[in-house]
Amino acid sequence: MFEPTNHFNIVADDERADAAEKVTGRAKFTADHHIDNIAYGLFVTSTIAKGTITNLDSSKALQAPGVLDVIYYKNCPNIPGYNALTPDNKRNNFEWKGLKVLNDNIVRFFGQPIALVVADSFENALAAVKLVKAEYATEAFDTNFNEARLVESKTKLAGKYKRGNPKAYLNAPFFIEAEYNTPIEVHNPMEMHSSIAIWEGDDKLTLYDKSQGPKGTQSTIARTFGIPEKNVRVITEFVGGAFGNALRSWLHVPAACIAAKKLNRPVKVLLTRPQMFSLVGYRPQSWQKIGIGADKTGKLLGISHEAISNTSRYEDFREGITDASRFLYKCENVDTEYKLLPLDLSTPTWMRGPGETTGCFALESALDELSYQLKMDPIDLRIVNYTETHQENKLPWSANNVKDCYAAGKEKIGWKNRPKKPGSLKEKGWLVGYGMGGGIFGANKGSATVKAILKEDGSLVLQSAVSDMGPGTTTAMGIIAAESLQMPTSRIKFMLGDSSLPPGPTQGGSGTTSTLGSAVNLICETLKQVIKELGIQHFAAFKGLQITDLEVKNELLIDKKNQGSQISIVELLKLAGKPSIEITKESNGNNPQEIKYAFCSFSVHFVKILVHPKTGEMKLQKVITTGDAGKIISENTARSQMLGGVVGGIGMAFKEGLEINHATGEIANASFGEYLVPRHTDIPETEIWFVNKPDPFINSIGAKGIGEIAMIGFAAAVANAVYNATGKRVRDLPITPEKLGFSKA
Ligand code: MOS
Repeated sequence: MFEPTNHFNIVADDERADAAEKVTGRAKFTADHHIDNIAYGLFVTSTIAKGTITNLDSSKALQAPGVLDVIYYKNCPNIPGYNALTPDNKRNNFEWKGLKVLNDNIVRFFGQPIALVVADSFENALAAVKLVKAEYATEAFDTNFNEARLVESKTKLAGKYKRGNPKAYLNAPFFIEAEYNTPIEVHNPMEMHSSIAIWEGDDKLTLYDKSQGPKGTQSTIARTFGIPEKNVRVITEFVGGAFGNALRSWLHVPAACIAAKKLNRPVKVLLTRPQMFSLVGYRPQSWQKIGIGADKTGKLLGISHEAISNTSRYEDFREGITDASRFLYKCENVDTEYKLLPLDLSTPTWMRGPGETTGCFALESALDELSYQLKMDPIDLRIVNYTETHQENKLPWSANNVKDCYAAGKEKIGWKNRPKKPGSLKEKGWLVGYGMGGGIFGANKGSATVKAILKEDGSLVLQSAVSDMGPGTTTAMGIIAAESLQMPTSRIKFMLGDSSLPPGPTQGGSGTTSTLGSAVNLICETLKQVIKELGIQHFAAFKGLQITDLEVKNELLIDKKNQGSQISIVELLKLAGKPSIEITKESNGNNPQEIKYAFCSFSVHFVKILVHPKTGEMKLQKVITTGDAGKIISENTARSQMLGGVVGGIGMAFKEGLEINHATGEIANASFGEYLVPRHTDIPETEIWFVNKPDPFINSIGAKGIGEIAMIGFAAAVANAVYNATGKRVRDLPITPEKLGFSKA
């Protein structure tokens, strides 16, 4: 038996800024907030997949202890954003995008909220939910992706692309053609979604909400309720994990606002764990077909990539499943086609590496399959097809050090031991396989505003209305500021999670460090200028000096020319008669380099797997994940981010998959007991390695994103290793012993 070991090194001076608050329980997540006189709202959900509610009986629930109201389509107040038209038929500016919860009697998926029970305690609300009885007129429904996708008329085209000759792979001397399937995967972070709505009068609202973007939520809710944005304050100080599920406001958010307004008291709406499986989005199910061909040197002659993913009936959710096939590898002939399949399910959403995670499972598996046909090392195959330019927009990469990733990973995983013939290597009775897979994700820089407050005691507070869903944004921002100002991170506090702070971006698309970090760098550089000007103005010894003569370091202002002449910033503030310095600045999203370069982050994952030849039990023995994401700001949190992606990737490879009972439309495994996720013992020795070279063109700090590349390509690395160990190719996730041909019994 091989026992997994963990080597999670923590860099001491790079500690998470919020670690103590989180591990001691001082950190307050949304539902932790207690407000005087608060009431609790819980959803009653539909027990059919499609139809109309013919009668909803709330009388028993209303008589139950502590119940204050049961809100449903017959008594739900009118919400401005639910109606896109004013009474005189003009389009108004109010809008709620998404299902209009509690608004009508139509059921669109099993588990849809149909009423909100509001009670004086969580327990009373929970008890009363069971007392609400609905009668339905049911309709035929469709939740079966695998069957429905075969019916052309049920799908709709969502994107098509072509360069060179379509289906060129068919004419290549070596080609493979294969279909890949991935199931619905759900986010399910530790912290479940909740919202607390507190109205002050008719048009002023404070909302505690689990959100990846307080500013985005503020805008959504203002437009939904027809009130000025400035009258909505959204607070999200701590987020207990999110992988895209808090990028938009889901149904419980307006529900909390509706209930609080109707009852004229604060209302907290919580989702239960089972509700987390259908009410906050998910990675859609996919079917993909890849055709890929090469000449005998491995040079790619054609890539064709088709994909279908599901959406709901009431919204189109699309993602870039076929995108990476268009630009990751050098190839003149590429065609892709992407279709959506609306089903009677809730709407999917972005989930870690949205699009590419699904697409690269297929693409990176297909390349591996091709490598065996060519009798070529799969890493060499990728190197042959390395491209200096983004193959779709033809721009040169701002930076692409993926070859360094290949080299480092190859060495660290022990690639030289990889058997050329699948199923030919054994260690202590277990079959051994090595596999690798790559990932790519676009990098960008958006706009953000940061306020700096240099306090009387010389410490620094930075503020921006972003949220930190877990990657460690406060830590990374502290490090950027500390580097710029040459002061210890312990003297810097980054405040976020409140829409009343200066506007910051939504945390998503691996863009926060680039966008917000640029703004932090800008404000700190500006602050240094202000300090230097103040020194020249007020400190006699600096009279007549130029800005460039001075340097800010260790909370001192120093004359670089005449070593020794210096003043502490605290003294300087006193001298200048200022209790503090406060400045606010916007770093805009413009990057003139954008028209010259293509910006992407890259990852390459390497795994060594053991497969038991009698039982099919699979154990990852070692994982090496390498990343090229520009400069690494915080080694500690960047490492954690990649490790999180690896864990997600292990879940995707071996465990995860939503099961739907197609007879009823109900999710059959909506609990942690039934929806499998990796346990600690499933995570092997994992080494994270970064190229760590600044990207010269992306922004002022040289850092790109890592949140998505951490996971993209990982599941393919596992499938490729499984093939290398056993000679069995699994193209349907998750990979289980049954799919390797081992029976359950
Ligand atoms: Mo991420 S899927 O952009 O939260």
